[in-house]
Amino acid sequence: MRQRLSRWKQRLLGREDPNLAAARQHRSFDAMSGVLGWMLGLARSELGSVPLAGRALEIGTGQFMAHAAGLYVCGFDRVLTVDRYRQFARPLVQASQERPVLARRFLSPFVAHDPFMARWQRLAATGWLPEKLAATGIEYRAPLEVAALTSGPERFDLVFSYTVLEHVPPAELPGLLSASTALLAPGGVALHFVDLEDHLDPRSAPFNFLAPAAQWTAAQCGERGNRLRFAPWRRLLADSTGLAWRFPYAPVRHDAPLPAPLDAGIGHAGEDDLRTTAFVAVARAPGEKADQS
Ligand SMILES: C[S@@+](CC[C@H](N)C(=O)[O-])C[C@H]1O[C@@H](n2cnc3c(N)ncnc32)[C@H](O)[C@@H]1O
Repeated sequence: MRQRLSRWKQRLLGREDPNLAAARQHRSFDAMSGVLGWMLGLARSELGSVPLAGRALEIGTGQFMAHAAGLYVCGFDRVLTVDRYRQFARPLVQASQERPVLARRFLSPFVAHDPFMARWQRLAATGWLPEKLAATGIEYRAPLEVAALTSGPERFDLVFSYTVLEHVPPAELPGLLSASTALLAPGGVALHFVDLEDHLDPRSAPFNFLAPAAQWTAAQCGERGNRLRFAPWRRLLADSTGLAWRFPYAPVRHDAPLPAPLDAGIGHAGEDDLRTTAFVAVARAPGEKADQS
């Protein structure tokens, strides 16, 4: 409701709603398919193959549902996409899917043109209504805690997230990571992109949130990120999952200052560790799985 009011306010003021702008730009299906293709490509180079059929679980759907659609067009027959909060906004999904031009090229290493078109048209025919999407194989469940899925029988060939885990308060991460590992089928792949910049002003002040703060609340984790740096993330991933993680992408940024002093609670392994701005983490669960390419 609040999102709808804000969209109306922006329209009255003659401004484009920033969420709508995002749906047409960096969160469009085209842009998100570029990201998905890039991440699947990194996973394939690291592991030799990636699952492209069976079941996929996306953690943190968000408003646009572009990655769930991308995983479906790549060949997964079932995509369960879940979120702790119900954020899905059909007008934004429609805007993000308005006119895909490049997605079929970005995803071409994983799906040929004809199945891409057939599957995308099947999705578009639902009008992006969650009830109708469920009949294609994409199921949206929110609000939902990932841990709630572990008591069910379903296990997944791919567990995926994009810009989600950095919003989870650190104390909750071991539980979320171990639950998401328990949800992997034998030989299943976990693939995550984690953004380590301050979301308040990532362009010019990506490290400002590392300055001393009396406390860092769950709300601040949601808005700006949980402030964990790359070395503590690597330890946490290993300790909470027991998997052998690989990190094919972990850029270090030198064009913005670090705060001085830093908050004493920020654990790190030196300046480059503090300056690491994101990472892709990929790991395979033990066991054999057919159908990987
Ligand atoms: C920055 S948005 C990214 C959404 C989507 N992945 C995208 O790229 O558009 C982060 C999402 O993660 C969700 N989220 C945060 N904590 C979560 C948790 N513990 N379990 C599931 N989803 C969570 C938020 O509600 C939000 O929708």
